Amino acid sequence: MDKRKIILDCDPGHDDAVAIMMAAVHPSLDLRAVTVVAGNQTLEKTSINALNVCQALDIDVPVYAGCGRPMIREKMTAADIHGATGLDGPVFAPLTRKLEEKHAVQFLIDELMASDGDITVVTTGPMTNLGMAMRMEPKIIGKIKEVVFMGGAYTNGNVTPAAEFNIIADADAAYVVFTSGVKLTMCGLDITRKVLCYPQIVERMEKIGNRASKLFADLMGHFCKSQKEVFGWEGGPLHDPTTIAYLIDPSVLTVKHVHGEVDIRSTESYGRTNCDMFGYQKKEPNMYVAENVDAEKFWDIVESCLKMYS
Ligand code: BDR
Ligand code: CA
Repeated sequence: MDKRKIILDCDPGHDDAVAIMMAAVHPSLDLRAVTVVAGNQTLEKTSINALNVCQALDIDVPVYAGCGRPMIREKMTAADIHGATGLDGPVFAPLTRKLEEKHAVQFLIDELMASDGDITVVTTGPMTNLGMAMRMEPKIIGKIKEVVFMGGAYTNGNVTPAAEFNIIADADAAYVVFTSGVKLTMCGLDITRKVLCYPQIVERMEKIGNRASKLFADLMGHFCKSQKEVFGWEGGPLHDPTTIAYLIDPSVLTVKHVHGEVDIRSTESYGRTNCDMFGYQKKEPNMYVAENVDAEKFWDIVESCLKMYS
């Protein structure tokens, strides 16, 4: 089986960490690199978190740090959910793994330009690195096989009624990516709110009894606690791994080909992803938007990935 080459651009983040764990281990995926961006926490912290996850599970992929702030607006973080470190919960051994020297944006450009057009870029944080790379070297657009991203919502947001975190945190970068013409698949809150990590799920994964399942349980312990404190929910949506689950088994999502735009002009609805799910505007579809998720299948995929660790 040909492995699908992917670059995971993320801002770990509890759910990003699980996405890294899945992407690194599944035999159908060839994780070329992890690129990091500021989002859930500062770039310094999200970079350390990515390295910690890789070190804890002997994930041998290069990690590149990218942009530490959005293209234009002021930086925002999600410390209420992910804690002061951005990955509160697990206790990691002293960090010996190091970041690559190249900037993540330059790495994206170099890697994509040298490729045969067979690399899928997965983003699970603000799209700053990818948007910057597209502006610096527009030729990469024709080299990207597909962008699969966690972000947006065609229903309600989670930062404002209109906007989801990854998009509002750098709506200008999302605008660049959405208007680039690249093939896009959006895993938005509409489906991630259907994969809630209840305590029973944590227990199920913990029973696997390996390093990965222990890390999953430590991560989700904090994640679920903060979801309860902030939103009053028993189980938090495991947003980011939906992208990886989809690449492993596309039948986990049902998607619709529609026209989608990011609102970067209004005040109240700034950062909203306007997805024309009913085709009212008669505009050319430019993205596949996930409409539904098979939650049972999703948790089976997560479990099968965790089981692959020793
Ligand atoms: C997204 O925001 C972050 O807090 C999560 O890691 C996820 O990528 C959900 O809105
Ligand atoms: Ca994220």
